[in-house]
Amino acid sequence: MDEGTWGRTPIEPQSVNAPLSTAAVFLTVTIAEGVDAARRAREVISDVGGLIRAVGFRDLGGHLSCNVGISADAWDRFEQSSRPRQLRRFSEIRGPVHSAVSTPGDLFFHIRAERADMCFELERLLLDRLGRDITVVDEVHGFRYFDSRDLLGFVDGTENPTGFAVSESSLIGEEDADFFGGSYVIVQKYLHDLAGWDLLTTEQQERAIGRRKADNVELDRGPDERQSHRSLNTIVDANGVEHGILRDNMPFGTPGRGEFGTYFIGYARELWVIEQMLRRMFLGEPVGQYDRILDFSTAMTGATFFVPSMVVLEALAPE
Ligand code: HEM
Repeated sequence: MDEGTWGRTPIEPQSVNAPLSTAAVFLTVTIAEGVDAARRAREVISDVGGLIRAVGFRDLGGHLSCNVGISADAWDRFEQSSRPRQLRRFSEIRGPVHSAVSTPGDLFFHIRAERADMCFELERLLLDRLGRDITVVDEVHGFRYFDSRDLLGFVDGTENPTGFAVSESSLIGEEDADFFGGSYVIVQKYLHDLAGWDLLTTEQQERAIGRRKADNVELDRGPDERQSHRSLNTIVDANGVEHGILRDNMPFGTPGRGEFGTYFIGYARELWVIEQMLRRMFLGEPVGQYDRILDFSTAMTGATFFVPSMVVLEALAPE
């Protein structure tokens, strides 16, 4: 969507590049069995723009946005003549110590706004419309934590692509013309062992992440040093070309229940890029030298979705 109109109209559905926000809802649902439930779900999501306008126009400064993602299995139930080329299920990765689990989800909603009440209201109206045709399998309310820190205490999101590279890395191009402007998204809900993490020295934490904690400056890796989270997630292909993704992670938690987490969300033009990041994190590079943040972060969910462009989403409306 054209960023120039964000001051006078609500943000269009499926704006992957919508602004980072201070609040977000990550909602995953499954669709009940049967042709009718799938058709009704299609009807609701194809018309999500109406609900976004209803809530978003009440405070344009709230920058409400919503992206709808569709799983491979749900897409196959949607009676479409074509299919996004790279859409496939999230495959579990079993590392030597930690695993990236694969969990259910047919539809995913990424709702962002400057106000938690706007996210809440859109989620409420959406669930009301979806009614008994769906079951909520995961719901996370995220918040911005100081200067965009995760609950491990590091600034998260710094190396996101900027300018032209945003669409270049996150939006499908002419290589899959039917799905131009769409995006693949992988989500994972992580729970942290903060007590364990806090036993590390700040320097050990900084080596694990690959940046300094206080001022967020990148650290160089020594020749024999284990890879950091940052270097494991730097993907360079055989031609020396680096491939990025667009992330909008959010902390979440309930201190009274000892729950502290990071909701990871990554949008990519090419699904293999995020899949490779995950393999490098969980299997390690070289194999065995996995991402140290995983000793303090357990992936509780994992799922892949396709976020169609607004035009493709609207065309999903049943006849
Ligand atoms: C517990 C979950 C996670 C936490 C707390 C976390 C935190 C961070 C932090 C603090 C940084 C450094 C600053 C930045 O550039 O954003 C970073 C970088 C990055 N992370 Fe994560 N991350 C998590 C999971 C993931 C996952 C699952 C992936 C990919 C599948 C990923 C991909 C990346 C990428 C691509 C970078 C930038 C690397 C670079 O080019 O410098 N992260 N992450």
